[in-house]
Amino acid sequence: MSDNSSFVLRGGIAFSESINNIVTYYRGYLVCVDGICQGAFSELPEKYKDLPLYDYGERLIIPGMTDLHVHAPQYTFRGIGMDCELLEWLNTYTFPEEAKYQDIVYARKAYSFFTYDLMRCFTTRAVVFGTLHHEATLELMNQLEETGLITYVGKVNMDRNGGEHLQEADAKASLEATVKWLDTIKGKFQNTMPILTPRFIPSCSDELMKGLGQLSKEKGLRIQSHLSENLSEVAWVKELVPQSSCYANAYELFDTMGTPECPTIMAHCVHSDEMEMDILKKHGAFIAHCADSNMNLTSGIAPIKKFIDAGVNIGLGTDVAAGSSMNMLKTMLITLQASKMYYRLVDQSVKPLTFEEVFYLATAGGGKYFGQVGTFKPGYDFDAVVIDDSKMFTMRDMSIRERIERMCYNDADAIIKDKYVKGKKMFSSMVV
Ligand code: GUN
Ligand code: FE
Repeated sequence: MSDNSSFVLRGGIAFSESINNIVTYYRGYLVCVDGICQGAFSELPEKYKDLPLYDYGERLIIPGMTDLHVHAPQYTFRGIGMDCELLEWLNTYTFPEEAKYQDIVYARKAYSFFTYDLMRCFTTRAVVFGTLHHEATLELMNQLEETGLITYVGKVNMDRNGGEHLQEADAKASLEATVKWLDTIKGKFQNTMPILTPRFIPSCSDELMKGLGQLSKEKGLRIQSHLSENLSEVAWVKELVPQSSCYANAYELFDTMGTPECPTIMAHCVHSDEMEMDILKKHGAFIAHCADSNMNLTSGIAPIKKFIDAGVNIGLGTDVAAGSSMNMLKTMLITLQASKMYYRLVDQSVKPLTFEEVFYLATAGGGKYFGQVGTFKPGYDFDAVVIDDSKMFTMRDMSIRERIERMCYNDADAIIKDKYVKGKKMFSSMVV
């Protein structure tokens, strides 16, 4: 119990005990042994008294957050071109930008901005889209490995509808490029795992989708993609795969919906109905709910409360650059606001999400994709973010629970002090 990933942190601790309950400790103790959380305590148990103790005083300590869906190559154009809906936005802004990652010098610089900022936000785990380019994706993985974050990264597959600059020649070329990428990275990384990444059905021929489904099975590789984000996209998929009963079934027909042991992540599911919900649940898939993106591209509001009640796996994604920021607190806030408007304007039988539920989705909900991740229960990986909220002046005595809610509604004043992933401190701020 003496290596540097065994220690005790002291501070204002908050974590989800269940989706409806946040447990807090004022000036409590949080114990990490060999990178694994041993629990949170009001009094430090005798057996941990010899571990080094770092006292964070009045600061908050919460579990690291999981960004279940983010596009690394889109980071540098976030916040512009937001008056479009999905398909126009992809063709006008996104595909021309991603085409630039053919140039490794461009990719290296742009990805350095992405990784630099990802280290400095609330995220400790992320599932990331790259581009279709081999070298640029290796560069992204190399940079992410350096950060100490734990991630899945995908070389994107697309063999149709990308225009002449962002498209692989055909299914065979795309599959070969994927195998080459997998062979190149084999055994190279500890914290950066590959994930198969068919962009979405409009970008991938039937043959390519089937090939990826097979590759996933052969190699036990997970898959990420997009599902039912936008109404024009949903209608297009119906034309492209006429034999499918719905968009989720189209993925199912190609064997890309995964299994509970090898779960697929589907971003969005804004327009998913009961039938799609059943398919997602049957396969143990994860929904990456991306409320900021869904607002920006006028996609709609996903009925997340219904999915939770049905027992579907859910986490949150920033979906940069359709989402304009990698700040998970902002994503939490928009998730809350969107669910309130869904209740008010769409369906009053679907109650708004509570703060407890959204805090859970950002931490334990998405964390589940990585295993025992996202809370401070014993046995979970020790991913923690220490936050200084002393700049949020108040006249009140605030509970820890109030302070974490306030931090979500006033994200600009929540400053990250330190960040730990699996017990390793991978970021420390000089500012606070
Ligand atoms: N669907 C296919 N590609 C994309 C993308 O890059 N962003 C979003 N939001 N949706 C997509
Ligand atoms: Fe996306």
